[in-house]
Amino acid sequence: MAKTSQTRTVTLTDNETGQTYEFPVISGSDGPDVIDIRRLYAETGMFTFDPGYTSTGSCESAITFIDGEKGILRHRGYSIEDLAGKSDFMEVCYLLLYGDLPTVKEKEWFQNTITNHTMVHEQLLFLYRGFRRDAHPMAVMVGVVGALSAFYHDSTDINDPQHRVIASHRLIAKIPTIAAMAYKYTIGQPFVYPRNSLSYAENFLRMTFAVPAEDYSISPAVSRAMDRLFILHADHEQNASTSTVRLAGSSGANPFACIAAGISSLWGPAHGGANEAVLNMLHEIGTKDRIPEFIERAKDRDDPFRLMGFGHRVYKNYDPRASVLRESTHEVLDELGVKDEPLLELAMELERIAIEDDYFAERKLFPNVDFYSGIILKAIGFPTSMFTVLFAVARTVGWVAQWKEMIEDPSQRIGRPRQLFVGEKERPFVPVADRK
Ligand code: SDX
Repeated sequence: MAKTSQTRTVTLTDNETGQTYEFPVISGSDGPDVIDIRRLYAETGMFTFDPGYTSTGSCESAITFIDGEKGILRHRGYSIEDLAGKSDFMEVCYLLLYGDLPTVKEKEWFQNTITNHTMVHEQLLFLYRGFRRDAHPMAVMVGVVGALSAFYHDSTDINDPQHRVIASHRLIAKIPTIAAMAYKYTIGQPFVYPRNSLSYAENFLRMTFAVPAEDYSISPAVSRAMDRLFILHADHEQNASTSTVRLAGSSGANPFACIAAGISSLWGPAHGGANEAVLNMLHEIGTKDRIPEFIERAKDRDDPFRLMGFGHRVYKNYDPRASVLRESTHEVLDELGVKDEPLLELAMELERIAIEDDYFAERKLFPNVDFYSGIILKAIGFPTSMFTVLFAVARTVGWVAQWKEMIEDPSQRIGRPRQLFVGEKERPFVPVADRK
């Protein structure tokens, strides 16, 4: 846990009043120290001002550590490179939830527990019928996951540790089933039920791509790639959607409603929606000779176009997940027998040109997790509209782990930021007949 420095403080001096204020510095186990400003308003009558929270720590957490300058990502102390290369998604789920990699027996228990929660209530199937067939699958995810609270709300007392564990397992187990059903519904194919003999990734692939008319054979290369994609997207500190889940949960809302809020936030193209936006951008660029035109547009302040899959609030170095994904892309395409994927050639050329350009170098803009993921997902057979859904499937364990950590934090309070008010001062009401 955090250590409040007994001696180290920082001092604020108000140059108008000459008043000075001292605030303690708190050190964690790694990364930047924080200035504890919880007494700032009481002592100074002023708020801090940090739109976008670029310099604000919102909580204590022991789950994920990122060093943006060095391009480091660790979950409970294990590097993302080790986890992606040597572990599997079920182990990473256990690690995020419980703090350590599972033993053989713990892994077997966890795997069985998740497997036996993969089916959804049969009544939920009728909920899909309320959507148009051409609904974006993320809209379906928001609606159906939010509706889960109607099925489990009476049995999810967030103050009951056992209920929290069951809700966590249900969400991790059911999110792939719900996601596969969202895809099936949009293409007019029947839902495929989970099969307990399959791994998490195999089950998801079968529920997504199998049809009743024939047996579905699962490619080991594809299920391994799917499992690795889940690991790479599982959690990422206090990003926009995780902060949304924490803020929603801080009011005591049930976990299903909180995860639905996280899915909504992830949908944005500046966040999880970027993987879909990258593929759309690559299709728009089309050929290598048009790359300079789009690089110039990305640099033009008056043009809203941005290089999707590039840049990151925290990473000012290569996103370590993008490095793993770039290597995986080559492996998966080779194993799938996809030769010379033009989108991969285009993406690699775009990356080469961009990172050599001063504009991107000065702003330390590198490819992020979304830059290559879509090329793998397209090769596996997912439509672009499903890319952010897959991000949500993987990130659900991170959201759940962060939600659980927040609920179990004894210092947890409802999140309620303040503001800098710049609106009208008090003014008299004017009856409508007298308004000019
Ligand atoms: C994810 O937070 C997380 O951890 C998220 C995530 C996770 O796992 O949860 O990692 C997943 O969301 C990855 C990011 C996916 N989004 C995209 O790829 C969309 C494109 N990227 C940008 O929109 C942007 O880089 C953000 C949103 C990711 C970060 O934005 P910031 O931190 O607010 O940075 P900024 O907008 O202040 O940019 C700083 C400068 C600006 O130029 P100047 O005003 O200094 O002249 O860099 C420029 C920006 O215009 N810039 C870009 C750019 N990203 C930033 N210019 C062109 N193309 C880009 N992609």
